[in-house]
Amino acid sequence: MQFSQLFLALLGSSFSFTLGHAAAIHKNSVEVQHIKFDFIIVGGGTAGNVVANRLTENPKVNVLVIEAGPSHEGVLNSQVPWFAANNWFSTYDWNYTTTPQIGLRGKSTILPRGYILGGSSSINFLIYTRSTIEDYDRIAKITGDKGWSWKTLEPYFKKNEKFVRPADGHNTTGQFDPSVHGFNGINSVSLQGSSTPIDAKVISATRQLGGDFKFVLDQNNGKPIGVGWIQTTVDGPTGRRSSSATSYLSPKFLRRPNLHVLVNAQVSRVLQTKGGNTPTFLKVEFKQTSPGSKLTTLTATREIILSAGAIGSPHILLNSGIGDSKALRRVGLKPLVDLPDVGANLADHAAIANPFVARGNNTFEEIRKPEVTAKLLKQWKANGTGPLVNSIASLISFHRVFGNDIPKLDPAAGPNTPHFEHLFANGLIVPNAFVPPDQHIFSVATALVSPSSRGSVTLNTSNPFDSPLIDLGLLKEESDRRMMRAALRHAFKFVKAPAFADYVVGPAGDLAGATTDAQLDAYMAAEAGTFFHPTGTAAMSPKGAKSGVLDPDLKVKKVSGLRVVDASIFPHIPSGHTQASVYVIAERASDIIKSSYPH
Ligand SMILES: Cc1cc2nc3c(=O)[nH]c(=O)nc-3n(C[C@H](O)[C@H](O)[C@H](O)COP(=O)(O)OP(=O)(O)OC[C@H]3O[C@@H](n4cnc5c(N)ncnc54)[C@H](O)[C@@H]3O)c2cc1C
Ligand SMILES: *[C@@H]1O[C@H](CO)[C@@H](O)[C@H](O)[C@H]1NC(C)=O
Ligand SMILES: *[C@@H]1O[C@H](CO)[C@@H](O)[C@H](O)[C@H]1NC(C)=O
Ligand SMILES: *[C@@H]1O[C@H](CO)[C@@H](O)[C@H](O)[C@H]1NC(C)=O
Ligand SMILES: *[C@@H]1O[C@H](CO)[C@@H](O)[C@H](O)[C@H]1NC(C)=O
Ligand SMILES: *[C@@H]1O[C@H](CO)[C@@H](O)[C@H](O)[C@H]1NC(C)=O
Repeated sequence: MQFSQLFLALLGSSFSFTLGHAAAIHKNSVEVQHIKFDFIIVGGGTAGNVVANRLTENPKVNVLVIEAGPSHEGVLNSQVPWFAANNWFSTYDWNYTTTPQIGLRGKSTILPRGYILGGSSSINFLIYTRSTIEDYDRIAKITGDKGWSWKTLEPYFKKNEKFVRPADGHNTTGQFDPSVHGFNGINSVSLQGSSTPIDAKVISATRQLGGDFKFVLDQNNGKPIGVGWIQTTVDGPTGRRSSSATSYLSPKFLRRPNLHVLVNAQVSRVLQTKGGNTPTFLKVEFKQTSPGSKLTTLTATREIILSAGAIGSPHILLNSGIGDSKALRRVGLKPLVDLPDVGANLADHAAIANPFVARGNNTFEEIRKPEVTAKLLKQWKANGTGPLVNSIASLISFHRVFGNDIPKLDPAAGPNTPHFEHLFANGLIVPNAFVPPDQHIFSVATALVSPSSRGSVTLNTSNPFDSPLIDLGLLKEESDRRMMRAALRHAFKFVKAPAFADYVVGPAGDLAGATTDAQLDAYMAAEAGTFFHPTGTAAMSPKGAKSGVLDPDLKVKKVSGLRVVDASIFPHIPSGHTQASVYVIAERASDIIKSSYPH
């Protein structure tokens, strides 16, 4: 293991020596100004790095990735899976806060976004869920492009995925189904590599309760309803996070002379380079983040690809005068292309980390004691094992609501698509002001994965470097609040399983005593936040449609030279954690782009 790593390192350095150029992460745009780029990708995040990697498979194609944040290299809080949340409000976070949320009785909530190479895949909770067959088939139907169906995307999931052994090397028979996975892809995925005391209890409860708590061997087969072992973007053999930066921009790929990455450079706008009926935008305007830097531009010969994420991409379009003309004028911008749906249709997953008092002392609360964390970090550094290789949960479940709780217009894509999710966690997931620090906790998080509510990204000012206004629309619709109540009651049912009789004492903090609809509503408003999955702000629609922002080939409507490839493109939010969906659309997008330039 360590020997092969040393060997790779030596191989890497000898290559860069003989070829005369080091890994191409540039910190100054002067270093790339002389190069003629076919494609400029805005945002070196989850999707952007996939596209950069795939397009540069052709040595004749020159690609530049422009990333606002710094390099991911050597960032411990990104490498150690357990440290994910340490990145919030750090130099690797955009530090967004939402507008006051109507559905949360006016409360604002935080929205971390990766400000680092790898984007949110460098700071997320690593959970790898593909969502459902029906989710993708619905997108195919809505857009009129069969290429977005599950069946067509299946090979792309496998192209992305490199399923590896968990960090502790435990026997994974019966915990996943090898037939649905890719073992030769680029991005590492594994089962959790450090067992926790609740794992066996949750599995017992699935047997005791049955019904929709039944055990599912592998939820990534497209039919996830039930309880299963969580899969994460952790590279088991090293115990490290696998992000789009560590995988698609690994040294092996960065060695390509046609792949260039510029970090610490924030794109403000795309600029029109040609007029006409469908004006062409092939120029990006950006500024290095070092103090005193000036605006600079670079021009692509073929396309600008926006991969700045569900907040960043619509923000750049709006800054560029592409959006709702009336709204642009209101902030003092000159509209160039009237596309009213830019920034609209934002969907996210409202979530609550419900705490229960637990009779046990080997919980997250223990791991979080500074002296214990220090010891575990030593272990992680020594051999990449121990509790720090885990994300926040080792089991996950997906469920539907029934009867009157199903909204009139069911937001789920079909009968095998869940309305809500539980995450089973061996402690408190996020800080809760009402839970005393000396209590040990078992959490059953609830999240609405098929919401009806929608929010938006809009401009606050005409300065492209000011944050946009982000409305996640969390629990805005009464039908969503109703589903969330059902989800909370479902969590109460779960902890009543005999498996928890000696373990779960009862609800903790302000969850205690929340039973009536009114009490649950008050609890929800106080404790709900986001699972950090905003999507849909530059949604696809059929070619020629009046609504929507992108054609099914991801080209921005009414203009030339511009595509969007990231979480913005989904007309409906996938019903699982979103990174696998983003990886898969980026893999297919790369093929769509390649096929537009056969020569
Ligand atoms: C805290 C957190 C936890 C999460 N947990 C999970 C999870 O466990 N499982 C899961 O599946 N999903 C999770 N997600 C969601 C998932 O990570 C995202 O849906 C996905 O990574 C989005 O990919 P993207 O390519 O659309 O955007 P991103 O990966 O965010 O990439 C956008 C990139 O563009 C850059 N950028 C933005 N604006 C500009 C600009 N103007 N100029 C230059 N660069 C710019 C950003 O810095 C970033 O690098 C989580 C997200 C967060 C933040
Ligand atoms: C986010 O906040 C941290 C802490 O205040 C700060 O260091 C960092 O620069 C901020 N990020 C951005 C993108 O401004
Ligand atoms: C793993 O467990 C399965 C079933 O429990 C067993 O059949 C198999 O031999 C085990 N594999 C190893 C390598 O021990
Ligand atoms: C943990 O719990 C066990 C059994 O309940 C007890 O014997 C032990 O002293 C506890 N350890 C700590 C550190 O509290
Ligand atoms: C890793 O290191 C820890 C102590 O630092 C040790 O207890 C453990 O056995 C080691 N594991 C492996 C697989 O080498
Ligand atoms: C919007 O702009 C106003 C005026 O400049 C400012 O006070 C406010 O903080 C901004 N809001 C956000 C969310 O940035």
